[in-house]
Amino acid sequence: MVQHKAVDGQVNDYHLVHLGQFAIGRFGIVFSENCAVEPQGRVTQGDIGLWDDRQIAGHQRLAHFVQQQGSLAGLQISHVGRKGSAPRPFDPPGQLGPEGADWQPWPVVGPSALPAGAGFPVPQELSLEAIEALVHRFGETAARAERAGYDVIELHAAHGYLLAQFLSPLSNQRNDHYGGDRAGRMRLPLAIVRQMRQVWPSSKPLFVRISALDGAGGWDLDDSVAFATELKALGVDVVDCSSGGLTGLATAQPIQRSPGFQVPYAAAVRRQAGVATMAVGLILDGPQAEAILQAGDADLIAIGRQALADPHWALHAAKELGHDDSYALWPPEYGWWLHKRKSNLPGDPRA
Ligand SMILES: Cc1cc2nc3c(=O)[nH]c(=O)nc-3n(C[C@H](O)[C@H](O)[C@H](O)COP(=O)(O)O)c2cc1C
Repeated sequence: MVQHKAVDGQVNDYHLVHLGQFAIGRFGIVFSENCAVEPQGRVTQGDIGLWDDRQIAGHQRLAHFVQQQGSLAGLQISHVGRKGSAPRPFDPPGQLGPEGADWQPWPVVGPSALPAGAGFPVPQELSLEAIEALVHRFGETAARAERAGYDVIELHAAHGYLLAQFLSPLSNQRNDHYGGDRAGRMRLPLAIVRQMRQVWPSSKPLFVRISALDGAGGWDLDDSVAFATELKALGVDVVDCSSGGLTGLATAQPIQRSPGFQVPYAAAVRRQAGVATMAVGLILDGPQAEAILQAGDADLIAIGRQALADPHWALHAAKELGHDDSYALWPPEYGWWLHKRKSNLPGDPRA
């Protein structure tokens, strides 16, 4: 989850502590925020990147820390296209970045010169040469992720970012072979996956996050099943099913949200494309997550905001599901003490 805390795309102490807390909390995989393949591919000037060898050391330190706690370290690789050069969501309108920081707008790119909405910059249409260069940038970033020691990478093709912009006919109105029918619109994302799979070891998983539907009437679940089928054939291990975000700032917008609202997308892609899926979106507790897995609707569960509310979510879920009444799964530096405290609090549910 993007924090806008980087300078020059560098992973720093903030990211180490922010993501490190989830590893201490025993999440199976700890994924970074979307990490840009080039400076123009960031949402804000504070996003992390891996477009330069000099950025590898920060990632290495982060991945190593996460692994030392027993979790797998994941990197989400992205380019946000026309949704770049944006304000942080919580800043007042017109303010680009933190107060006092010298954040400058930059020209954004996209498949066509169509903005994400009113108030968004009009992107420059990517030339064929620029598209080919981008394929290589994604590959180079995946290769750096391997050098940094990550266990898993995820390509971001959701939330109206560059690859979702190519997929949807509402944002992609190109007349060349990167636009037109669904096969044309899928061509760039698939070329990038092919390139990444070539440099990323076959022994390590490659995930792709999709918006199963754009919610604006351009890209729908049938398109996603077709896309996921192609992804699987190219060696993608998991399709992570989010939705929306083609227009406006927010992810999932304009789709109506309620607990587990995106699970049906993970279920449909899993059943119809025969590929493993990850479910995400308003999944709040252990029993809800477990029910999704038991129903065969997804293979993995992603927790976003509930992890911000509770970095020990995975450990609390294990307790709720009756797997850990004695803090045995906790890091012993915490668990030994908490277990010992129980004898002072007989019958107290907080213990
Ligand atoms: C602060 C914040 C930052 C986010 N950053 C990213 C991101 O970098 N990449 C991404 O794919 N999704 C991002 N998301 C979306 C989440 O990954 C997730 O899909 C969404 O919050 C819904 O899941 P939840 O209900 O568990 O939070 C972000 C969400 C939040 C709240």
